[in-house]
Amino acid sequence: MSDSVTLKWGDKTFELPLIEGTEGEKAIDISKLRQTTGLVTMDPGFANTGSCQSAITFMDGEKGILRYRGYPIEQLAEHSTFREVAYLLIHGKLPTAKEITRFSVLLNDHSLVHEDMRTFFESFPRQSHPMGILSSMVNALKSFYPYLEGAEEEIESTVTRLISKVRTLAAMSYKISRGHLVVYPRPDLSYCENFLNMMFDSPVRPYEIDPDIVQALSVFLILHADHEQNCSTSAVRVVGSGRVNLYAAISAGIAALWGPLHGGANQKVIEMLTDIANGRMTVKEAVHRAKDKEDPFRLMGFGHRVYKTYDPRTRIMKKMYDKLLNKLRIKDPLLNIAAELEEIALKDPYFIDYHLYPNVDFYSGMVLRTIGIPTSMFTVMFAIGRLPGWIAQWKESMDDPNWRISRPRQVYTGSALRDYVPMEDRGGEHKTIPLRQSA
Ligand code: SDX
Repeated sequence: MSDSVTLKWGDKTFELPLIEGTEGEKAIDISKLRQTTGLVTMDPGFANTGSCQSAITFMDGEKGILRYRGYPIEQLAEHSTFREVAYLLIHGKLPTAKEITRFSVLLNDHSLVHEDMRTFFESFPRQSHPMGILSSMVNALKSFYPYLEGAEEEIESTVTRLISKVRTLAAMSYKISRGHLVVYPRPDLSYCENFLNMMFDSPVRPYEIDPDIVQALSVFLILHADHEQNCSTSAVRVVGSGRVNLYAAISAGIAALWGPLHGGANQKVIEMLTDIANGRMTVKEAVHRAKDKEDPFRLMGFGHRVYKTYDPRTRIMKKMYDKLLNKLRIKDPLLNIAAELEEIALKDPYFIDYHLYPNVDFYSGMVLRTIGIPTSMFTVMFAIGRLPGWIAQWKESMDDPNWRISRPRQVYTGSALRDYVPMEDRGGEHKTIPLRQSA
C-alpha cells in the first residue's frame, strides 16, 4: 500500500505523506498542507485529527484495547501498583527494585505541603468544589517551588513533588472543608495507604487500613493513569506548548477534567443514579430522556469518543467493585439501578446504533462511595490517577524536537470588511443615560 495519499483540487494534484504507527495506525501528514495547497483542514472536536505521535498509551476503540507503554491494562491492574505504573508512564519502563525505592523515597520526601499553603485553604468558602481548590493550589505550587531546572534530577524532583503533593492537597482540602484536623503523611505508609489515612484518620478514631480497600484504590488510580490525547491531556499539552511551567500546565488539565462530559461524569453518574433511587425519575425515563434529542439529558457514564465497544477499564472496575462489596458485606442500593440501566441501554437500538457503552466513569463512583470518598471528591480522585499520565505526556512533548506552540487555524465566517460608524450615525436612541441610573 502506498506511503502517501493523493489530494486532487481542480486541475492540481498533491501528494501527502502517510505516517504509520506501531500498531499499523495510519495518519496523513498535513504539516505542509497550507504551505503547498493554501488549504487548512476542519475537524471540530478533533475526532479525526492526531495532535502528536506518542509512545505512552495505545488504545484500540473498536477492540476495547488499552495499553500503557505496551503493557495491557488488565495485567497492570492485576499485578502492578499505582506507584509503579506512575514510574512506567513517566520513564517508559517498569522500574527495578532500586529505581522504585528511589522513586518512593522522593514521593515520601515531597509529601508535605508548605505550611503557608494552609492559609489558602482557609480562605476558600466552605462549599467550594474540591476541583476548583485543587486547580488553584497546584498552580500556587509554582510560587512555593519556583525552580524547575532542565537537569534530569530536577525534573524527577518536581515530578515526584507534584504526584506526592497533589495527594496531600486533596486530603487536606477534604479535612479542612469539614473543619477537621489535618492528618500528615507518614513515612511508614505506601502512597495509597497514606492517602486513605490522611482522609479518614482522626485523633478520636484511628483509621484502620484495610488492604482490600488499599488495593481497590490502587487499581482505581491505575485505571485512570493515562488515556492518549483526551480533553484534559490535550489541555496539558496545549498549555505546556507555550513553555509555561509544569504546575500551570497541570492546573489547566485539572480544570479541563472537571467538566461533566469528561472527568466530572463520575460525580454526575452517582447524582443520576441517586435521582432514580429517590424516585425523581425511573430507569426507563432516564433512558427515554437520553434518547430524546430535544432533551439535553445524557446517560452519564455512557458513550466515548474512542471506545465503540465496552471500555476495558469498566470491566476491571466492575469486577473490583463486586469484590469490595463482598469483602465489606455492603449492599449498595445504587448497584441494582446501575445494573438495570446498563442492561436496558445495552439492548436498546439507540445505544447499539450509537455504540454507547458504559465508560470508566459508570462504576468508578460506586467504588469510591464504597471506600468512603465523598461524591464531591470523585473527580479529584480521577485527577490524582491521571496526574502521572499528564506529566508523562507533558515530558514527551517537551522532549520532542518538533514540538511547537499549539495554534490551530480557523475558517472565518463573520462580517466582510466594513468601516467604523460614529455613534450619531448608528440610529436608535441618541440620549445617553447617566451611569447611576443604568447600573
Ligand atoms: C471520560 O477521551 C477520553 O479518553 C475520556 C476519558 C479519559 O479517560 O480521559 O475516557 C474519560 O471523559 C469518559 C466520558 C465521560 N463522559 C460521560 O460519561 C458523559 C456522557 N457521555 C457523552 O456526553 C459522550 O458520549 C462523550 C462526551 C463521552 C463523547 O462525546 P462525542 O464523542 O463527542 O460523541 P457525541 O457527543 O458526538 O455523540 C454522538 C451521538 C450524539 O447524537 P447525535 O447528536 O449525533 O444525534 O451519540 C449521542 C449524542 O447525542 N450520545 C449520547 C450519549 N453519548 C453520546 N446520547 C445519550 N447519552 C449519552 N451518554
